[in-house]
Amino acid sequence: MYLQFIGLGQDVDYKKHIAPIVASKCNSCHTAKKKESDKKPKAGLALNTPIGIRSGGVLEPGDASSSEFYIRVSLPKNAEDLMPPPDDGSPLSTKEIAMIKKWIDDGAKFSSGSAGSLSKIPAGLDARKVKSMPAREPNADAIEHLENLGATINPVSVTLSEYLSVEWISTYYKTTDKEIEQILHLAANVVEVDLSRTKVTNDGLKHIGKLGRLTHLNLNRTEIGDKGIEALADLQSLEWLNLYGTKVTAACMPIIAKYRDLKSIYLWNTAVTSNGVSTLRKALPDAKIVRDTDDRASRFDDLDDPGKFDF
Ligand code: HEC
Repeated sequence: MYLQFIGLGQDVDYKKHIAPIVASKCNSCHTAKKKESDKKPKAGLALNTPIGIRSGGVLEPGDASSSEFYIRVSLPKNAEDLMPPPDDGSPLSTKEIAMIKKWIDDGAKFSSGSAGSLSKIPAGLDARKVKSMPAREPNADAIEHLENLGATINPVSVTLSEYLSVEWISTYYKTTDKEIEQILHLAANVVEVDLSRTKVTNDGLKHIGKLGRLTHLNLNRTEIGDKGIEALADLQSLEWLNLYGTKVTAACMPIIAKYRDLKSIYLWNTAVTSNGVSTLRKALPDAKIVRDTDDRASRFDDLDDPGKFDF
């Protein structure tokens, strides 16, 4: 009744209702950095974009009273933890607080719910084109769509909230090329992809080969082979490539040798010969190349980011 009284009988929409509140009452302190000189968001929490809010751990969709995003704005007026801080910003109105509550209780949806705009993968994408596309705020519908297909999506850092990592860690066993293709809806935003143990095929890597901004790719324990690597030839920004336990051979080394930015590659448990490795070492003298003849213990030490990229 109360919500109707204040004009909240209908749905609360993120863009129309929530984003404007955040923009006027929170963004001065909780905005993602765009460049190094910008100040860091308070508490490492960037509220100015959907991906920032989602990855901030402040939402329990469906349950406002367990969500920091709501709790911190609905405390008594003199509470120390109130947001915005009582002596440093104007408090939210009763109506704004009610809108935030309803939005979270209704599921905290960011998308318009119109997956219609996603019915088709954008045509004519290739790596070069994708790299020159502006990296705008990622499309919330596309993020929700991929999450519904089992993907976990996060910004790579609070600083760069438009750049995303996509992984299928928990649903790898049922993830096929069909789900993976849908990543192209976020082509301009994706910089890290973890496909380890998924059912990706050589053919499916054609989609990945269009992600011109990709810097990290994990293919460990997949069925992919040399043909799949051929499909990745245009990924000239790759810095980190994990091919552990795949079917690649020395035949694909010439393609990998052209990744001028490559810093680490993992070839343990593959058929790549020591000749193949030395070809690669010559072409990329500064890259870390880990294969079975290397000290095995070092393959763990060598991981740049062991938490993110399950070996
Ligand atoms: C004047 C600066 C300022 C403004 C404006 C502000 N905050 Fe904060 N916020 C902070 C600071 C500083 C912290 C860290 C200290 C703390 O937790 O109280 C914080 C922490 C938080 C936290 C806790 C994060 C965590 O991980 O524990 C939440 C949630 C939050 N703010 C939400 C909001 C919301 C929502 C708004 C707008 C309605 C807002 N803040 C406006 C400065 C601000």
